[in-house]
Amino acid sequence: MKPSPIIIGSERSEAGLFEGAKLLATGASALDAVEVALRLCEDNRKDHYVGTGGLLNARGEVELDASIMVGSSRAFGAVGAVKGFAHPISIARAVLERLTQHCLLVGEGAELFADEGGFERRDLVTDESWRLFREALASSSESVEGEGTPALPGDDAYRRSALALVNRFRPHDGPWGTINVLALDEQGELVVGVSTSGYPWKYPGRVGDSALPGAGNYADARFGGAACTGRGELSMRLTGARVVVDNLARGDDPNEACRSMLSQALELTDDYRSELRTICLTPDGRHGAAAGRAGSTYNVISAGVGELVVRPRVWP
Ligand code: GLY
Repeated sequence: MKPSPIIIGSERSEAGLFEGAKLLATGASALDAVEVALRLCEDNRKDHYVGTGGLLNARGEVELDASIMVGSSRAFGAVGAVKGFAHPISIARAVLERLTQHCLLVGEGAELFADEGGFERRDLVTDESWRLFREALASSSESVEGEGTPALPGDDAYRRSALALVNRFRPHDGPWGTINVLALDEQGELVVGVSTSGYPWKYPGRVGDSALPGAGNYADARFGGAACTGRGELSMRLTGARVVVDNLARGDDPNEACRSMLSQALELTDDYRSELRTICLTPDGRHGAAAGRAGSTYNVISAGVGELVVRPRVWP
């Protein structure tokens, strides 16, 4: 029996999820649906965690990470620390499809590849992202990465060290986050995509979990796909997405697979601790998600129905 196509995403994925669902409903591939959904999120200037308007690194530049992974082949394409391009998810897909000898390009090499492929260049700094950069570093009661939720003690430590970096790099006068999208198409293909401007005020060249297979993104069509948002360094140290998929493989239900990974994250020492979140989708269309605290959500659209359902994430 053919699976029912479905697309799910992290908070703020609604900017692109409807278009992805519409495509899936017409029989399009999960790869196309995930790419289209994330491109729209990357274009959303009101979202300061991704693409145009994403928050800046310590030198005042927007550096983007993105990846896409195909569950049946476990083919992976990614870019890291890319500057000046509108749609890193499409460059990541091109790495997957056209540069099959490699999985990940970073910095200048990724930009060379994107220019060769004719991808759209764009100034990614907006007036608003620049203002947020200046204001947030001065003081803020909001979490460094975490949907505007109250700051945790680790956020202050992060902010202080970021401020020291910014002062060192003397940013020019003139600007956080991650989106996960996971889709299952009618052929049974499972695809996971991730796109982000990464941690705000990060050290230039810092690449986060979003570009790394097993950390921020993992898909295995036998068991499921998973992706992470939040404190990427925790996800990298744990290989968070891979752990969630391994939990699915051992028979955990989707919420438990996510919750169990976050419990492991809580055991790691991290002076800059802020939240890690995760989301997963199985080959038979079940899904789940977890966050470090209560009240967080994720988005689901069953392509045949077309309505967005906001679901609660479980927490450890
Ligand atoms: N999870 C996004 C990042 O750490 O860059």
